[in-house]
Amino acid sequence: MAAFSERVFSGVQPTGNLHLGNYLGAITRFVALQERYDCVYCVVDMHAITVPQDPTELRRQTREVTAAFIASGIDPVRQIVFNQSQVGAHAELGWIFNCVARMGWLSRMTQFKEKAGKDRENASVGLFDYPCLMAADILAYKATHVPVGEDQKQHLELTRDIAGKFNNDFSASIASNGHGEAFFPLTEPVIGGPAARVMSLRDGTKKMSKSDPSDYSRINLTDDADAIAQKIRKAKTDAEPLPSEEAGLARRPEADNLVGIYAALAGAEKPAVLGEFGGAQFSTFKGALVDLAVEKLGPIGAEMNRLVADPGHIDRVLANGAARAAAIADRTVAEVKDILGMVRS
Ligand code: AMP
Ligand code: TRP
Repeated sequence: MAAFSERVFSGVQPTGNLHLGNYLGAITRFVALQERYDCVYCVVDMHAITVPQDPTELRRQTREVTAAFIASGIDPVRQIVFNQSQVGAHAELGWIFNCVARMGWLSRMTQFKEKAGKDRENASVGLFDYPCLMAADILAYKATHVPVGEDQKQHLELTRDIAGKFNNDFSASIASNGHGEAFFPLTEPVIGGPAARVMSLRDGTKKMSKSDPSDYSRINLTDDADAIAQKIRKAKTDAEPLPSEEAGLARRPEADNLVGIYAALAGAEKPAVLGEFGGAQFSTFKGALVDLAVEKLGPIGAEMNRLVADPGHIDRVLANGAARAAAIADRTVAEVKDILGMVRS
């Protein structure tokens, strides 16, 4: 395949509280990747409206996710940080991808099935179509790497399918327009580490989620030290001490989850954590986890609160990011229109 210059893209929805799963599964990895790649990080407000949103909350949460990016260490000067709706190319390319993707592909998406639930007839068309917009987000920047949590894997496979079908269906026009063999890269997911899937603190078989009715199921990035400590102390566990080997975590979802969280916060892997805490009771381990979580998350929550107090500054960051994003994405859309045979001036 043609060589594409490397670029990272990822998105986070401005819906509800950002939690430890978002932070460890996605945002910390965004921070790490910026050392090696040009990165584009997007607050995906157009994805958010696939389910009902209160306008005041949507605006507040868009700024809050932006604040979380910056407070976690993403540099909006070196990298591009913006909200999706400010760059029209996403919607435009999303429409074009509606005409590339097949009904059958989208019908297999498990996230749609989960989110639509039993009342599928009443789900928005946007919720069904969500993965086409996500593919447009990524491919408008010809992104080669996309860091996400495990739950997004299927959507990234669909993005590759869309890129592949477009490259294939229009191969002659792609070549005659001077783009060689392939116009879009086949994007690589960047998924992994000990916290690719952080589970609920109340039930180790359920994903930690913004929409869980119990606030005790998750640690929010804006929780203070007392809340973090209480939630970890009340987290569900089993009666056994921690094992010394990773194999001993099998069929112990709550223990596995807490060890994974500790490892990710410490920048380590699970075996190293078990090397230290193997044989310990949960009371001891939870005490150490509280200290570590407060040490790592406390400063981020405080910085987020400081940043959201100045919405003017955040809005300037987003406007600057949107202008730089549009410069890249508009060009991709213009090239796609040429490939498709659309007349443009
Ligand atoms: P969302 O809040 O759905 O926009 O998710 C933003 C990012 O956080 C995506 O990359 C998700 O895959 C990731 N994410 C969400 N929940 C979790 C979780 N429980 N564990 C790990 N990653 C997660
Ligand atoms: N679907 C992602 C989520 O719910 C958010 C998202 C939208 C995204 N567009 C993206 C993630 C592009 C990565 C790349 O978490």
